Amino acid sequence: MSIFKYNDTDALGRVKSVDTAIVIVQVADVDRLRKLQVNRLAVLQSSRPGQHLIGIIQKITRNAVEAKEIGDVEGDEDDLKMPTELNLVRITLIGTMVDKLGTQSNVFLRTLETVPEIDANCFAVEGESLTNFMRVIASIAADGEKLSLGHYTLDDKAEAFLNGNKFFQRHAIIVGSTGSGKSWTTARVLECMAGLPNANGIVFDIHGEYRPLKANGIRHLRIAGPKDLDAKSALKDGVVHLPYWLLAYEAMVSMFVDRSDQNAPNQAMLMSRTIIDAKRDYLTRGKHKEVLDNFTIDSPIPFSIADVIARLEELDSEMIPGARSEKQGPFHGKLSRLIERLKNKQTDRRLGFLFQAPKQTMEFDWLDKLVASLVAGTKDQSDKLGGVKIVDFSEVPSDMLPLIISLVAKLIFSIQQWTPSENRHPIALFCDEAHLYIPERQSSSGGESFAIEVFERIAKEGRKYGVGLVVISQRPSEVNRTVLSQCNNLVAMRLTNGDDQNVVRRLLPDSLGGFSDLLPVLDTGEALVVGDASLLPTRVRIRQPENKPNSGTVPFWDKWGEDKEVAILSDSVASWRKQAIQAAKR
Ligand SMILES: Nc1ncnc2c1ncn2[C@@H]1O[C@H](COP(=O)(O)OP(=O)(O)O)[C@@H](O)[C@H]1O
Ligand SMILES: [Mg+2]
Repeated sequence: MSIFKYNDTDALGRVKSVDTAIVIVQVADVDRLRKLQVNRLAVLQSSRPGQHLIGIIQKITRNAVEAKEIGDVEGDEDDLKMPTELNLVRITLIGTMVDKLGTQSNVFLRTLETVPEIDANCFAVEGESLTNFMRVIASIAADGEKLSLGHYTLDDKAEAFLNGNKFFQRHAIIVGSTGSGKSWTTARVLECMAGLPNANGIVFDIHGEYRPLKANGIRHLRIAGPKDLDAKSALKDGVVHLPYWLLAYEAMVSMFVDRSDQNAPNQAMLMSRTIIDAKRDYLTRGKHKEVLDNFTIDSPIPFSIADVIARLEELDSEMIPGARSEKQGPFHGKLSRLIERLKNKQTDRRLGFLFQAPKQTMEFDWLDKLVASLVAGTKDQSDKLGGVKIVDFSEVPSDMLPLIISLVAKLIFSIQQWTPSENRHPIALFCDEAHLYIPERQSSSGGESFAIEVFERIAKEGRKYGVGLVVISQRPSEVNRTVLSQCNNLVAMRLTNGDDQNVVRRLLPDSLGGFSDLLPVLDTGEALVVGDASLLPTRVRIRQPENKPNSGTVPFWDKWGEDKEVAILSDSVASWRKQAIQAAKR
């Protein structure tokens, strides 16, 4: 039984022209035209019986046409009946509804096997047939745990399901101006994931926004801040240290070597040499013969930074025998600035998670524990607490974000690459505020170029290794284009800035270009969802997550309206000096 039961007399109009996926329909009846709305659905007769072509109304025009002067007695009878208006509707075809496919009835396919013929009838999908059609769409992903964002704006009884495989395989972006509902949408996706028994994902939470997300399957981790530096044991209570020896060589160079320094090449070269020596020492002392033969500067092997600094200091002040007396060594005085930077970073409390990690992090096997806590899905964890890991980066200095987040992303990607495919458990990376660490325009410092390299690689090759990206940003125009262009799923919320709209427009298929006109008028919590994972490119009202993220918005006026003391500013000064925030006392 077809869900579309139309009489020819209900027809909106007839097809006037067809161009691949774009159809122009002429509407005779102005009353029918008035009821039409852009972005609603229409159905067209297909040349094949039992098939119906579904399209989205993109443009409605009503034009006056010069008619033959009425009363021209010489005129032909027919000329008097010429329409005085030309009412046209432009429709983008998006798929085919098939009454029967094998044993299934009413199946929606995202392909266009046929195109409508000229003069084919076109009907508006509304009322009961809309409800029935949306039901079909909603029931397609019927079994098991589903990825559902909410409901279609077109029909609030029809759930908007996404294909969870395609959403993560083909990467996704969630964009929207600040306050449009990106974090809530992300929380909603995370909650759907957490319902699965062996979910695996990691959220780069820059402001600690996702702290309130408490559900089975969700685990909270936090990059150590200044007040965690006295911790005796690592990885306790979800506090994560990322010891410096995890940094790749490129990252080290961007952190310690000032490229504008004339001695930069020498500094980079000697840093590389001394680090390799220090890693070799470590391996030799630990008798890790099999690693010794194959390690490189980028291998994740602990080494003593104190030894490196000591060796560099030696070279920096080295005197060698000369012809008559001692003379300065080849690197004398050339490494002072490098040494100074190394020492400064080493004692900076804000970077304590790198340089002042507990002793255990220097143990050879400690990396296994770190990897287990970052990369394992629920079932592979000893405590089975949850595979959706929300990692709070709020205490990482903002200029270090690109370097540190890409360190974690790279670690995950490397582990996936070194895992045989049959043992690989897919993992999704949720990059909130991505413009901060996957920027389009890179500055020379802060490891941005390193971060871009890592994320471009994941965007291009992640699918093969089971690493999915979800890029979340309020400034898509400031996010790296190569990464964006690899994202085949778009969840676009209200977006007001013109540059950002243009970037999103370019990610939409050509035929849906007009869809982007909706971007500035979307309601809070409403999104355009387009891409491989969704059957219908359409407007979705996102369901609220069970636990709401912290919006972090300060209600200025309300706060000013409260008649009480709040701030203890001397504590703030003390915290600033100690580089550690005190817990609030009031
Ligand atoms: N799906 C939704 N339904 C209802 N209200 C929402 C929804 N999503 C967001 N909001 C409202 O908008 C506010 C901002 O949402 P948020 O996700 O923090 O925005 P963003 O991350 O885009 O800056 C929330 O505090 C909430 O009041
Ligand atoms: Mg947000």
